[in-house]
Amino acid sequence: MVKIKTIFSCQSCGYQSPKWLGRCPACNEWNSLAEETSLPPSLLRDGVSISPDRSSSPIPIDRIKTDQGERIETEIKELDRVLGGGIVRGSLILIGGDPGIGKSTLLLQALNKLGEKKLKVLYVSGEESINQTKIRGDRLDASSSNLYILAENSLEKILEEIKILKPQCLVIDSIQTVYTTSMESAPGSVGQLRGSSIKLMYLAKKTGIPIFLIGHVTKEGVIAGPKVIEHLVDTVLYFEGDRGHPYRILRATKNRYGSTNEIGVFEMGDCGLLEVSNPSEIFLAERSIGVAGSVVVPSIKGTRPILVEVQALVSPAVFGTPRRTTLGVDHNRVSLLAAVLEKKAGFSLLNQDIFLNIAGGVKIDEPALDLGIATSIVSSLLNKSIDPKTIIFGEVGLAGEVRGISHWEMRVNEAVKLGFKKCLIPHHSKNLSNFHSLIDIKRIDSLRDVVEYLF
Ligand code: TYD
Ligand code: MG
Repeated sequence: MVKIKTIFSCQSCGYQSPKWLGRCPACNEWNSLAEETSLPPSLLRDGVSISPDRSSSPIPIDRIKTDQGERIETEIKELDRVLGGGIVRGSLILIGGDPGIGKSTLLLQALNKLGEKKLKVLYVSGEESINQTKIRGDRLDASSSNLYILAENSLEKILEEIKILKPQCLVIDSIQTVYTTSMESAPGSVGQLRGSSIKLMYLAKKTGIPIFLIGHVTKEGVIAGPKVIEHLVDTVLYFEGDRGHPYRILRATKNRYGSTNEIGVFEMGDCGLLEVSNPSEIFLAERSIGVAGSVVVPSIKGTRPILVEVQALVSPAVFGTPRRTTLGVDHNRVSLLAAVLEKKAGFSLLNQDIFLNIAGGVKIDEPALDLGIATSIVSSLLNKSIDPKTIIFGEVGLAGEVRGISHWEMRVNEAVKLGFKKCLIPHHSKNLSNFHSLIDIKRIDSLRDVVEYLF
């Protein structure tokens, strides 16, 4: 008799244990372990080994032929850029985001574009009927005859249809609604999620069909289910935005075929998602001019510059320890800069709460923002505004010195394009002659310098 092995896996992080435990030792969640049958051998056999293109003997690296260069472009530039220049054949891409943010819309639009390029593509909806998808398609003007729709939840049936149709790109909307009969656990459980994802990964690697998996996110904003499927896929994208605003940001948190630094910006309209090719304009659109605590900083996201507004609010602390609350920037960075301002520029911030925000919901993680953060804090503290036509950037060291940063020409160029008149840049930036007629450039070499110049 075949003995069925069971295993207990954590439904929130995927940790596995042979025994039941009241609390998951990996993620500390209480009561999250559920009994599941372990991965059946059939899943691992299915004609392929774990890594299908694993070679049996070692090969010198210069003799390995890749099809890496072969990318399929969706013609939605914002999406292609985040993917690293198009979809890599045979890749498995997970895209997560809050309900209603526009995941289904984005992928239906992308598939339609591929359909228009004469590629046969399949959109599998486990959540909506064919009719509902068609209604959405009409709204988006997605009417390519190469775009096939399938409303199905059983993975086995989906695989059968794929064998017959032989699509060149596939979307599964959503991975949580798909179940495989080779697993005994209930649909929607972590076991099912992992089982279905592994089968789809095999399919992608074996046939070269790129597959997009749409995933739901939990209240905390991570893709629901275990981290296990994030490890399994090649690329993890998050689609984010505030539902009150029409703007949506697509970013990669993992990408085996490109940078995770790029972002794609979209605007949700009546006919679906529109690309925003100049995000600086939208990030600065709602800026109030001449308000204390606001500074514009040019930041580099991947390959392009984006102007963002840094906003600081400094107010007397009510309780003993002053608060440092930040949105969109590293909290430790702000504490560090506050300490430098205190010690090297003589501002007393120990009894002040500091709130810092990057307007527009972008996250910025580069040292070039330092000077912007520091000056916005001083501006709010002194209640003096900074000239709204000025941009400021540079890294600040612990001695209060301003250090040079990369790509400064790109940053200044973007500011010139958007009509800024003055820029404060680190002393070390060279070769300024091209810009002299376009923008007033002031070189600075210490935090003290900047403060004296601005206030
Ligand atoms: P959807 O793609 O269904 O979100 P998700 O798959 O991430 O859950 O997007 C649905 C939202 O987008 C819905 O609130 C309506 C809005 N929307 C538009 O504003 N314009 C459109 O053309 C479409 C198709 C949707
Ligand atoms: Mg959807």
